[in-house]
Amino acid sequence: MVLLTGISKIRTAVFISGTGSNLKSLIKFSKTSKSPISIEFIVSNTPKAKGLNYAKIYKIKKKVLNFENKNFIENKLLSFLKINNVEMICLAGFMKILSKNFIKKFNGKILNIHPSLLPKYKGLNTHRRVLNNKEKYSGCTVHFVNSRLDSGKIILQKKVKISKNETEVSLAKKILVQEHKLYPKAILKIFNV
Ligand code: GAR
Repeated sequence: MVLLTGISKIRTAVFISGTGSNLKSLIKFSKTSKSPISIEFIVSNTPKAKGLNYAKIYKIKKKVLNFENKNFIENKLLSFLKINNVEMICLAGFMKILSKNFIKKFNGKILNIHPSLLPKYKGLNTHRRVLNNKEKYSGCTVHFVNSRLDSGKIILQKKVKISKNETEVSLAKKILVQEHKLYPKAILKIFNV
């Protein structure tokens, strides 16, 4: 993907909708010397996202945007990101689907994390569907975002074993632990660090 030149880090925005545990792990990673990225903005589609608290804790600028009028908001956001020299976007539990136009403008520079072994179980209610299908394994995937949902090129995956009495909650927890390690690893991989 993008090659790291010089010592400046890739200015990155993280998009969230909820708890933001992946955001937290990305912020911690971004502060390490080996990180090729710096996190400049947190974007949320809802003021209720708990993860917005990390903006205050880590002194990162935040933007809460109502995606109801998607075209209008996305265009505003694109200009804002451009003006602020944001080069990469990490989706981390962001539950809105970005338009083709938006993705095109950031071609190859939007990453997402999904709590399944893609291409299996794209979309919502992943853990419920995995358990209903009596799968032996699930996991998580970091991938590039393209215009089709959860379908862009896979960067890294981590498999986890499903236990006998696994519930949606226990599986989600178990996979989140792996997500927190996988996202930084995937970023190091695309920058060849
Ligand atoms: C994570 O499990 C992430 O993989 C998932 O939402 C959770 C967000 O947790 N993302 C999706 O399902 C996107 N399709 P977090 O807010 O604690 O990072």
